[in-house]
Amino acid sequence: MNRIATWGTRGDLFGFRDGTNNINTSDRAAMEKFVWAKASDGASWMAGGSYLAVRQIRMLIKDWDDSVLEEQEDVFGRAKSTGAPLSGGSEFTQPDFSKLASNGKPAINPESHVALAHPQHNGGIRILRRAFNYANSDDPKGAADVGLLFMAYQRDLSRQFVAMQRQLSEHDLLNEYIQHTASAAFAAPPGTAPGGYIGETLLA
Ligand code: HEM
Repeated sequence: MNRIATWGTRGDLFGFRDGTNNINTSDRAAMEKFVWAKASDGASWMAGGSYLAVRQIRMLIKDWDDSVLEEQEDVFGRAKSTGAPLSGGSEFTQPDFSKLASNGKPAINPESHVALAHPQHNGGIRILRRAFNYANSDDPKGAADVGLLFMAYQRDLSRQFVAMQRQLSEHDLLNEYIQHTASAAFAAPPGTAPGGYIGETLLA
């Protein structure tokens, strides 16, 4: 059976809630549309499986800690304390990108991480994210080598993760505070029937 447990929101090393607008794994329609590969996608042995993108992303904690709260919230487009979008509401309210702040500018910066990664601005793409914080020993200069082991499952790597990452790499305000240091992609084959084995759709 295809099953990925439901994942909640957790704090990242920059102090923001991560996972708010993730795909809900009990939303079957979204899982079918965005996560599980189909035979008609090209590789029939992957039907019911998923493709995993993994990135090790160093987070520049010192630079982040030197920035003020207003700048940090502008970078993500969400409030640090509640996770609510800067357009208002609470953590799970959908962002309103047309809302203007009192200074006449968009309440959510169009170059914020959330604005650029949101389906409204990427042709409707979604991915299923699951990230872990990591902490290595300090680098030779004594700076913290910590960050996010970013993982995302999707039906099609190039149309989803790659397209999204390309857009983020060009404009995301978060880029000033992160460095991608390692990258990998995996094909996760479908689950098995009783008595079957992982990969049998490819090897049998
Ligand atoms: C260290 C790196 C990163 C950090 C700290 C980070 C953190 C966050 C935070 C705090 C949010 C807002 C809450 C949420 O909806 O989860 C968010 C949203 C999101 N992030 Fe990241 N993120 C990182 C890298 C990435 C990368 C590499 C991608 C994909 C290429 C990505 C894709 C997304 C998506 C799709 C959303 C949801 C946007 C929406 O629909 O509202 N993130 N991220």
